[in-house]
Amino acid sequence: MVILGIETSCDETAAAVLLKDLGRVKILSNIVASSASLQAKYGGIIPEQAAREQVKAIIPVVLEALKSSQITADSLDAVAVTQGPGLIGSLLVGVETAKVLATIWKKPLIPVNHPIGHFYANWIVGEDLRVKTPSFPCLGLLVSGGHTDLVLFEDHGKFNYIGGTRDDAAGECFDKCARLLGLPYPGGPQISKLAEQGNPKAYNLPRPMLDSNNFDFSFSGLKTAVSNLVSDSDIPDASGFLSHPGSLQSDLAASIQQAIIDCLVIKTINAAKKYGVKQLIVAGGVAANRKLVSDLQLSIANFQLPVKLFVPPPALCTDNAAMIASAAFFNHQTINLLDLQANPNLSLAY
Ligand code: KG4
Ligand code: ZN
Repeated sequence: MVILGIETSCDETAAAVLLKDLGRVKILSNIVASSASLQAKYGGIIPEQAAREQVKAIIPVVLEALKSSQITADSLDAVAVTQGPGLIGSLLVGVETAKVLATIWKKPLIPVNHPIGHFYANWIVGEDLRVKTPSFPCLGLLVSGGHTDLVLFEDHGKFNYIGGTRDDAAGECFDKCARLLGLPYPGGPQISKLAEQGNPKAYNLPRPMLDSNNFDFSFSGLKTAVSNLVSDSDIPDASGFLSHPGSLQSDLAASIQQAIIDCLVIKTINAAKKYGVKQLIVAGGVAANRKLVSDLQLSIANFQLPVKLFVPPPALCTDNAAMIASAAFFNHQTINLLDLQANPNLSLAY
């Protein structure tokens, strides 16, 4: 079975062709066009601008995905597309394009929930039989720019939301703190790079909700603490603070990263213990953070938990269409073309 996936929920314009054979999902092509240079210029995503770029990029990206997969439209079994959640203008570009292509090519259309799609990056394993796919039940931690969720999967398409952020997402916290440090967007990779040379204990930053009796997170207080720290520092303003490259900035970056990671690791490990899962799947842009992955691994070892950790390669952690096609193989619920509507508020319980 071959599926074309389309993803345009945020600022990326992505298309991918994937093949599923003997239960194993393999990438034939995976194209991602991003308006990253525009975001860096404006310090973040401007929704209308992102959608305008996506309108221009979508057809060339789809054609490129088909061309480099060496699959013709005729040979596709279905078209899968992100239905939501996300930015409405961006979602519409992908959804309307998918509807038109599915109509012209006479192919079934499969809508995919973006956060759930992220988790399915863990099922893309290629042909190497030594690489195992996750099995059920498993615990999912989604950490991206828009989401921080803990989800318990009983099977494909059968899951329960057990907790998540009450305010900012983990990636959003990385991005906002990076901005306070004068670093360009997206801030996560910038903070993690700077943090490599910093002392994670240099600044005592809050780790909110660690004692709460649930699996929820809160990151907005951390951003406020960093803002206060930067403005209260002996050095007059953020730019002054940051014009001293080296230890001050890297210590703060390392401390921010560690505070975010500690919250994620402690709650996730508590959930793994409570639900007795043997598999943990991590997904989303922040899963590209190596320190998060190594701290999760360390914590699993420290508590001697029989938990196997799955993390996609970095290119499949951030937004891409391969994960959308992968999700469609395992959640093959087609929808009537005219019934599909982009839904910016699509929830995890769909
Ligand atoms: O999954 P994604 O591409 O988009 C959303 O669905 O939100 O995630 C983007 C987020 C951004 O907030 C970015 O700063 C963060 O992922 N990110 C990272 C790293 N790479 C990307 N955060 C921390 N460390 C990284 N290495
Ligand atoms: Zn995403």
